[in-house]
Amino acid sequence: MCNARPLYLHKKVTCPIHASILYIPSSSSSTSTSTKPNPLSTLKFLSSNRTTDPILSFFRKIPMATANGHSPPASRWSLHGMTALVTGGTRGIGLRSATVEELAGLGAKVHTCSRNEPELNECLQQWKAKGFSVSGSVCDVSSASEREKLVHEVASLYNGALNILVNNVGTNVRKPTTEYSTEEYLRLMSVNLESSYHLCQLAHPLLKQSGAGSVVFVSSVGGVLHIGSGSIYGLSKEFLSASGAINQLTKNLACEWAKDNIRTNCVAPWYTRTSLVEHLLEKKDFLQQIVARTPLQRIGEPNEVSSLVGFLCMPAASYITGQVISVDGGMTVNGFNPPINLD
Ligand SMILES: NC(=O)c1ccc[n+]([C@@H]2O[C@H](COP(=O)([O-])OP(=O)(O)OC[C@H]3O[C@@H](n4cnc5c(N)ncnc54)[C@H](OP(=O)(O)O)[C@@H]3O)[C@@H](O)[C@H]2O)c1
Repeated sequence: MCNARPLYLHKKVTCPIHASILYIPSSSSSTSTSTKPNPLSTLKFLSSNRTTDPILSFFRKIPMATANGHSPPASRWSLHGMTALVTGGTRGIGLRSATVEELAGLGAKVHTCSRNEPELNECLQQWKAKGFSVSGSVCDVSSASEREKLVHEVASLYNGALNILVNNVGTNVRKPTTEYSTEEYLRLMSVNLESSYHLCQLAHPLLKQSGAGSVVFVSSVGGVLHIGSGSIYGLSKEFLSASGAINQLTKNLACEWAKDNIRTNCVAPWYTRTSLVEHLLEKKDFLQQIVARTPLQRIGEPNEVSSLVGFLCMPAASYITGQVISVDGGMTVNGFNPPINLD
């Protein structure tokens, strides 16, 4: 049973898909009148239902025109007229000061989700106060039915077209490999890998319909190095296993979906100040080891990751696809760095 609950802040309309009441930002418009019960056929219907609204049509042309790199300089560095879905937007790298705000501040309309309704509501209030166009749903992305509901809500909100999907949600349990239970394995693979994979599948028609789609995965520097974060995290988020996972998926989709003008890239952070790792960063010895291993001599901040996410979604990045880019203060290029004046 899906219990994803949409939470919107401004205008009250009847949701065409679920026949329930949604609150959508007043600048959005809903043009669909579908009441079809079959979610997949509804998604197809929405995807092919291009708006006749002249203002929306005008904005849609901005990313389409820039897809080939021939666009006015200002619009190359803007997300105006674009729509985005960011998973896990209430804390950390997805947080109000990071990815959601980065994309909204660059002009995109953003929909986000998390599992904690009061926290999501609080974020939505703050975004509204800042003048950002952000809506949200309570959704556990580890549930297939909740993912489907989430994408249907996004299809309804954005008239079947989505420019940006940021697969940000991820979690970890750190243990020696021999101590993981089957349940822990399945949970980590479900949250870190299956959710992103399925959301890409579900969002593909919407990304294609936008005329210029962009998927950004958030993985980890563990994709290029062993960082002692646990082998399941490595396996699910990174490229330590032969079958690939997120970093390899970035490359596969870049090639497979290029014909649909959908770019896929991946940002790979090193230790970044978020709720996911705050308990580790409180351990002074461990923090010192991280800092010593990092040429820039500090951990990262969430907005130092979200700035790359924002750039990768811009028309200015229209020729960048299939890349895994580390945001790590130089950690992954730091092999052995002794003092130079040893003599
Ligand atoms: N922080 C780092 O040092 C670091 C380093 C490398 C990679 N990363 C990666 O960066 C990404 C973001 O991490 P973060 O540090 O920002 O994490 P975080 O501080 O734990 O925030 C995670 C966000 O995702 C939401 N979330 C978690 N599980 C969810 C689920 N099942 N369904 C829906 N929403 C969910 C959380 O809200 P609720 O809990 O309320 O649902 C929260 O908004 C992750 O993929 C992580 O692996 C982080």
